Amino acid sequence: MSPNREFHTHSPEETIAAGRQLTHDLQPGQMIILRGDLGAGKTTLVKGIAEGFAAALQEDVTSPTFTLVHEYRGPAVTLFHIDLYRIDTERELATLGIDDLRAEPASILLVEWGEKFEQIKAQSDGEISIERTGESERTIVYRAPAAKPLR
Ligand SMILES: Nc1ncnc2c1ncn2[C@@H]1O[C@H](COP(=O)(O)OP(=O)(O)OP(=O)(O)O)[C@@H](O)[C@H]1O
Ligand SMILES: [Mg+2]
Repeated sequence: MSPNREFHTHSPEETIAAGRQLTHDLQPGQMIILRGDLGAGKTTLVKGIAEGFAAALQEDVTSPTFTLVHEYRGPAVTLFHIDLYRIDTERELATLGIDDLRAEPASILLVEWGEKFEQIKAQSDGEISIERTGESERTIVYRAPAAKPLR
């Protein structure tokens, strides 16, 4: 995967702004893995993505740690913000019905801890990684999947 876009942020607000920018790279039908340690800023980034799609206000985007899936409907896309941190088995994963969410019209799935599951990795349309490089510094990298060869 080649890096398509990179941001260096110095505050949560800047990460939210990066999320707004990243909406230009995302398209309906995609599933994107959000990769990064606990507290890296994945949920903070989703605040910006949701705002960029006019699907939610940043203060209304909260962590789906316990609820597992949050849905934000915008005029052009429906965002599903999913957190697999507490999901340990493929069986539990299946109960979330991720395929059904993908089948919703104009859905974009943003999956925290998606890299835990091979099937999520295999089906994803790229990833956004967030690395903590200081107390309030983060490096955010969006990578689209390498183009699949045409048959
Ligand atoms: N530049 C920054 N970008 C994003 N968050 C930052 C930044 N600097 C400090 N923070 C703080 O880091 C924390 C990020 O929390 P957030 O819930 O977004 O992380 P997360 O990656 O979703 O964690 P988890 O895996 O626990 O869900 C917040 O408390 C935020 O205020
Ligand atoms: Mg989170």
